[in-house]
Amino acid sequence: KRRTAILISGRGSNMVSLIEAAAAPGFPAEIALILSNRPDAGGLARAAAAGLATATIDHKAYPDRESFERALDEALTQAGIELVCLAGFMRVLTPWFVERWTGRMLNIHPSLLPAFRGTHTHERALAEGVLIHGCTVHFVVPELDAGPIVAQAAVRVLPGDTPETLGARVLAQEHVLYPQALRMVAGGLVRLENGRVVRALGGG
Ligand code: GAR
Repeated sequence: KRRTAILISGRGSNMVSLIEAAAAPGFPAEIALILSNRPDAGGLARAAAAGLATATIDHKAYPDRESFERALDEALTQAGIELVCLAGFMRVLTPWFVERWTGRMLNIHPSLLPAFRGTHTHERALAEGVLIHGCTVHFVVPELDAGPIVAQAAVRVLPGDTPETLGARVLAQEHVLYPQALRMVAGGLVRLENGRVVRALGGG
């Protein structure tokens, strides 16, 4: 099993879906560490309740991005982590950190990339009048929300949708999609090679 860390900043609902999936026999990843950059992240208590190792690396306690990321990298290395899942982790990572984890770090983003990179994706999707919205799991590259796509799920925009109702339907799909994506990457069915996603038979 690939030793996997989940990085969070908030409530951690995607984290919970990954933890639950990884508990199934035969799942190729084992959740070995939950790391938060915020001491008050709701997900930390949920992870501890599930009996998992947790750590907080508070970015506010470091003078700059580089020293924060060195601490992050050290914690991951010390725990023998092989794969990193960003799950509502709201710090932009520098090229230095991203390159150290190239091909071994995934993110989930609440839109159908490359549409709506960045924040407030559901508001922006509604403002554009798109009829299909969704979520994406991608390998992390230095450019924000621009990495090669591992998996996507689509959600229909319904008349009368608000950012909240649309976001809730997208989130439900995120909880299905992220475990599927981690299963494929940890199981070696999907990998990053020369900046491109290579899929084996069964890799989505
Ligand atoms: C999720 O919707 C995730 O896609 C999004 O934040 C939410 C975290 O919820 N991530 C981003 O916007 C990344 N830029 P969660 O803490 O309940 O998993």
